[in-house]
Amino acid sequence: MGTLDKQSTADWLQSVRWNSADNQLDLLDQRLLPDEIVYLELTTSEQVWDAIKQLAVRGAPAIGIAAAFGVYLGVRSTSGSREQLLDETVKQCDYLATSRPTAVNLFWALDRMRQRAEALASAGGEPEAMKQALLDEAKLIQSEDEETCRLIGEHALALFEDGMGVLTHCNAGGLATARYGTALAPMYLAQERGIHLKVYADETRPVLQGARLTAFELQQAGVDVTLICDNMAGAIMHKGWVQAVIVGTDRVAANGDVANKIGTYSVAVLAKAHGIPFYVACPMSTIDLNTPNGDDIPIEERHEDEITQGFGKRTAPQGIKVYNPAFDVTPNEYVTAIITEKGVIRAPYNENLKKLFAEA
Ligand code: MRU
Repeated sequence: MGTLDKQSTADWLQSVRWNSADNQLDLLDQRLLPDEIVYLELTTSEQVWDAIKQLAVRGAPAIGIAAAFGVYLGVRSTSGSREQLLDETVKQCDYLATSRPTAVNLFWALDRMRQRAEALASAGGEPEAMKQALLDEAKLIQSEDEETCRLIGEHALALFEDGMGVLTHCNAGGLATARYGTALAPMYLAQERGIHLKVYADETRPVLQGARLTAFELQQAGVDVTLICDNMAGAIMHKGWVQAVIVGTDRVAANGDVANKIGTYSVAVLAKAHGIPFYVACPMSTIDLNTPNGDDIPIEERHEDEITQGFGKRTAPQGIKVYNPAFDVTPNEYVTAIITEKGVIRAPYNENLKKLFAEA
């Protein structure tokens, strides 16, 4: 396997950055992109909770990474015994888990932090050493995600060919992960290797992750990217401009149903109607075998203002009824393949996802 050229991603804006000098979490405020590059300086778990809730940090893996650092921030000034520190860690994990409901990576990362604390406590760890180990665990979650995304990029790129048009929805890029992204990782790899992909980024109403984040990060990296409105996807498929769709996901159920940003389902249906493969790229930590199917995935509903007055300008009448789910579920029959760090999985998903975990 090759490696991503560090040079081509040297300007990369890291969404989550542990600042050792100031002992704080620096979070790129993604709400301000692409206009302003501002890092929030967070010192408490409450601030991390807010940053997740308000989408300053967003994207399934990035949320998990931020929350893991949030646990450390929440426990670092706890005094007392190892049992008290363990209690506080569990409390902080439970608290941070209430920030957003859909991305399973959040719960996965928090479980990992809790398990680390439990293991240290039962091994008789000293409280100060336990705190340091929790910080190290958060850093490890972040560095592992970088490597995971690179591998996802390798497996995904094997499905693409030079000259292909590739459509993506929302932002599953470096901003949503430790680095490289999931759905966008093959695009960075392709560019480094001189493989030309023509990327179409859906703008992704209502919060415009496609326009503000995907278009921004791909353009920054010099990838050939064209921004389209969400309602243009069918038209460009009909024109024959799209040979593959690739998206990220917040949670894959055991049967291969996939929750992702609202609008993903429509894209999947359009892809099927046009005979275009629909790929989902994610780390194993996004696959939730405890959720049997898509109907069991909790779907976050967000404030109506995102639709009626997104970005401060009122675009709908006062008092209008609004329905604003942040995610939808794409049934497994629309999913051509799921691409993880371990390789490409195809239907039957119930069987093959289970096998994937058994082998891991
Ligand atoms: O509401 P968001 O911006 O957190 O939604 C993000 C997505 O839907 C992404 O596609 C998903 O989290 C995968 S990120 C690699």
